[in-house]
Amino acid sequence: MKLAILNNRNYKQNNLKKIWYLANLPQMYALFNFNIIKFLKNFKFGEKIFYKLMKLRFLFKQKPIIPFLSFFITTRCTLRCKHCNTFIPYYRNKFHQKNYTLEMFKKDLDILLDAVDYINIFQFIGGEPLLNKDLPEMIEYACTKSKINNIFLTTNATILPSSKLIKVLKYNRISVQVSDYRNTKYKNIFYKELQEIFAKENIKCNFFQESIGSSNWSSNQEIYWKDTDIQTLKKRYNNCFNANCISICDGKWIQCIAGLFMFRNLKLEKGVSDEVIDIRTCNNLTEKLIEFYAKDYSKFCNYCHFENRVFNLPCGEQLEQNDTSNIIPLALYKDTPQTLVAVERERERERERERVIAPNCLIKLKYRYRRAS
Ligand SMILES: C[S@@+](CC[C@H](N)C(=O)[O-])C[C@H]1O[C@@H](n2cnc3c(N)ncnc32)[C@H](O)[C@@H]1O
Ligand code: SF4
Ligand code: SF4
Repeated sequence: MKLAILNNRNYKQNNLKKIWYLANLPQMYALFNFNIIKFLKNFKFGEKIFYKLMKLRFLFKQKPIIPFLSFFITTRCTLRCKHCNTFIPYYRNKFHQKNYTLEMFKKDLDILLDAVDYINIFQFIGGEPLLNKDLPEMIEYACTKSKINNIFLTTNATILPSSKLIKVLKYNRISVQVSDYRNTKYKNIFYKELQEIFAKENIKCNFFQESIGSSNWSSNQEIYWKDTDIQTLKKRYNNCFNANCISICDGKWIQCIAGLFMFRNLKLEKGVSDEVIDIRTCNNLTEKLIEFYAKDYSKFCNYCHFENRVFNLPCGEQLEQNDTSNIIPLALYKDTPQTLVAVERERERERERERVIAPNCLIKLKYRYRRAS
């Protein structure tokens, strides 16, 4: 465990600071159960004491604490938000999409929990998590795990919860985050209905419009590979709110929600897939995760370019039906043919041409064969 001790500064930066920060966000604070942070917050040196205690805990347990983990139980969605920060509308086909089964979910969660000390926030996310019919059982299963402190479910309010789901949402460790898409033209937004149901059923929840306003979106970063020097990567990573928003999908542990999109949809530059940990096959997962948190940048950050980012956008602007962009909001990328996105699009066209050409070739060959015989 030498490595982790040597990199203690980064471990603190990536894990412990994030835990303290999240627990102190006003909209989050009310959602947490009683924990040590709530207690320590009352003292002048509470934060420092917290870091010291966690460091001791690490030396004793030799396993990492996971501050925040987004578990993608589906990459399908009912909406098509143009600036979706998980890029869901730009997943191109079924191969790139994923819907977890209950069995797989249980297996992956068990593997993961075995390798870590505890998970501070476990988030069910997607796509729209309520599209996964096994969601109630998944939540129920997660609730049996003492190594998960808080469980978040984030929904777009387009699907009303079943009575089975309502029952499990009442469990103590869970809170529901409801995004506000009432501005969209989508007809079934049950924001008000959910407010009523959750109040009646005494379910912990956070309605985003009330807590952070409805014009708080930002456009996505441009995504294309550019060799970047380490100092810039470190800076980008340090300033990125997505850093260490770990995404788990299909048994793969990936740096962040943007990295997940890249991993599932783009042909990656050499070396980047080394950043992805396959929790199902990795035989020294604890060490790998400690190494992961001791890093101070990710190679995925070579893909992210935030320069043209726009802020204060209304939540959930939808892609038009006739918008044919199939990877990333294209307005920003059209004129950069060197980008991977463009390369990928060209490859797709090539594959399409091959699909069209292939049957013709076969017919011709058959014809020649017949004439020869
Ligand atoms: C990607 S969504 C997935 C869960 C669910 N489909 C939903 O929209 O609530 C997770 C959270 O990210 C927020 N989000 C998505 N794109 C965003 C953006 N460009 N800027 C700010 N927040 C964004 C959503 O509002 C939601 O609260
Ligand atoms: S942000 Fe929009 S498109 Fe993305 S997952 Fe949520 S509802 Fe779906
Ligand atoms: S890859 Fe790096 S810069 Fe891009 S969103 Fe993830 S953490 Fe941020």
